[in-house]
Amino acid sequence: MSVRLAPSILAADFARLADEITAVERGGADLLHLDVMDGHFVPNLTIGPVVVESISRVTKLPLDVHLMISEPDRFIEAFAGAGASMISVHVEALSDLHRTVETIKRTGCRAGAAINPATPLAAIAEAAAELDFVVVMSVSPGFGGQAFIPQSESKVRAVRALLDAAGNPAPVEIDGGIDTSNAERVVRAGAGILVAGVAIFGADDPEDATRRMRAAAMAGATA
Ligand code: DX5
Ligand code: ZN
Repeated sequence: MSVRLAPSILAADFARLADEITAVERGGADLLHLDVMDGHFVPNLTIGPVVVESISRVTKLPLDVHLMISEPDRFIEAFAGAGASMISVHVEALSDLHRTVETIKRTGCRAGAAINPATPLAAIAEAAAELDFVVVMSVSPGFGGQAFIPQSESKVRAVRALLDAAGNPAPVEIDGGIDTSNAERVVRAGAGILVAGVAIFGADDPEDATRRMRAAAMAGATA
């Protein structure tokens, strides 16, 4: 099973962002995870399309844009235009997941549904066949550096089973508190994309931290 690493720039030094991104590219990152927060859906504020567009000019890594915002439909086109390859939206912020998935796909981006720790699987069950990826939040969204919620491991397993039952090979992405101590376990549970912020950009050497995360994740993939 393949595993992709998606360093989250939330924990990076934004004044040195291009250098930080180059470091994780050298370390073998597969995607770049960009956390968009609106101060409404989550209690924090981060970046918008303008910054995403600038980032797209300094990296070849596909941009995985995680929208933690209310009314995401209003901004999908802007983020797609700014260079996103993947866009995930929170089911908790939506009135119609199907419509939003269609909107994302029309832009040419891969469409993901993100679910908070307290959100049951039923929220994505009807859309299981049409999703390009599912983001299992293993912390409450809003901040980097939080502790991994242990029940997330079984949630990954359950989402993987749900997608498999729908005949959908779409990857399960796990986001929040991932480090070298739990990467193997979540990969073994079925995670195909690992997001990591503090564990990568909080390290002295993000390039080396990316390599070490890869090694930890691959232990789960080959087990
Ligand atoms: C949390 C964000 C995460 C965050 C992960 O709301 O969605 O992507 O950056 O950061 P760490 O890996 O530090 O928990
Ligand atoms: Zn995220």
